[in-house]
Amino acid sequence: MTSILILNGPNLNLLGTRQPDVYGHSILADIETVCRAHASSRGAKMEFAQSNSEGALIDHIHAAKGVHGGIILNAGAYTHTSIALMDAIASVELPVVELHLSNVHAREEFRHVSYIAPVALGVISGFGAAGYPLAMDALLTHLAQHG
Ligand code: DQA
Repeated sequence: MTSILILNGPNLNLLGTRQPDVYGHSILADIETVCRAHASSRGAKMEFAQSNSEGALIDHIHAAKGVHGGIILNAGAYTHTSIALMDAIASVELPVVELHLSNVHAREEFRHVSYIAPVALGVISGFGAAGYPLAMDALLTHLAQHG
């Protein structure tokens, strides 16, 4: 059975109360529930994790190799700063979908830069919590076609 990792970075534990006008009203546990239901409807397994620490996110990416077929990564602000996360993704050679709740390209200029995008399969940005099942469909379809 195909298995995927959904990994969430800094400050995403605060969803629901964090700038709801930007990030919406869903809390991360609600998003996890939706993702679990979506994974089972698609016959896939899923691990869901969040960390505020760059090193812990890198450890999750390393641990995914050989366990998961691919990763959905909302790296939060580390998207715009972390060469270490980019290197981790390149090292494990797993397909990664970069995900953002907000449309980062419609926001401040520093959010237009992504260290993840050059090593990602693709990017989903701006669809709020609905982006998670969209990203799952994109990744699962890719894995079905490419293994
Ligand atoms: C985010 C966008 C980032 O720019 C920001 O730092 C976040 C959340 C999003 O989901 O829209 O923490 O990744």
